[in-house]
Amino acid sequence: MTSLRNSQTEARRQRLHELVSGGTGLVLALFMWGHVLLVGSILTGERGFDWMATMLEDYYIAQPTVAAIFTLFIVHAVLAARKIPAQLEERKRMIRLAKDLNRSGREKVATRRSNSPFTPHLESILWIWQVRTGMIILVLGSFHLILLGLDVFTPLFGEVAGIESATSLARVSAGLWLPYGILLLCVEFHASVGLYRLAVKWGSDWLPSRRILHRVEQVIFWLVLGVGSLTLVVLAGWLEPPLAFLLTEAPS
Ligand code: HEM
Repeated sequence: MTSLRNSQTEARRQRLHELVSGGTGLVLALFMWGHVLLVGSILTGERGFDWMATMLEDYYIAQPTVAAIFTLFIVHAVLAARKIPAQLEERKRMIRLAKDLNRSGREKVATRRSNSPFTPHLESILWIWQVRTGMIILVLGSFHLILLGLDVFTPLFGEVAGIESATSLARVSAGLWLPYGILLLCVEFHASVGLYRLAVKWGSDWLPSRRILHRVEQVIFWLVLGVGSLTLVVLAGWLEPPLAFLLTEAPS
């Protein structure tokens, strides 16, 4: 009886963890779409970017958002980390599994069909990359959030406290394009696969088939990665803002 009660309590605890890590992941993924649009304002030039940043800071939207996103980021990381193999032996097994999955499906099997046991198991490969990209995001994302926290709350970077195009352009072109490029790729993969896995986990009764959900996930991934990459190229100073014509004043 006691052991039944213990396992019920444990099951309830696991479900709560699952809900909170899924919920925080969902909010972070939605935030990242908004983030792509906000930082993407640099595509219209420095004036558009500065207008957006000043508006978000003057109306006290940026400051609480930085604090809230940082909190969600940490809660999500702590809860999701319980799925990362902690023991060395488990990690080795995961690396072996990743290698085997990578090899499987490449064997020359005369009778290979789509449901062949040799087909690589997509869901498992996605899960392994979900863990790997999560670990990279934890390091690079924490660095980025601390940097932006200092930028928004202190005058350490630039003339005044707050995000300014001149500072952002200077630091990205000085070399931050490389960690940002890696972060962008990992975040977009992690977020789109995460949303796909959430949809499969909680919505399999009423959502379309896995194949359709996977297609949707791929479209979102390439679309957001495309806009994010273009933004990064402009921030690095390799391309003039392609939408600058939208903000040029007509000659009087
Ligand atoms: C509220 C919190 C955040 C703010 C205010 C913010 C703001 C910014 C700003 C101003 C830039 C331009 C570059 C710079 O100034 O250094 C940038 C770039 C970037 N941020 Fe954030 N960010 C936030 C959260 C995040 C999070 C949580 C991630 C992912 C873990 C992220 C990923 C990126 C990436 C990949 C870039 C490179 C540019 C691109 O989108 O292609 N940011 N962010």
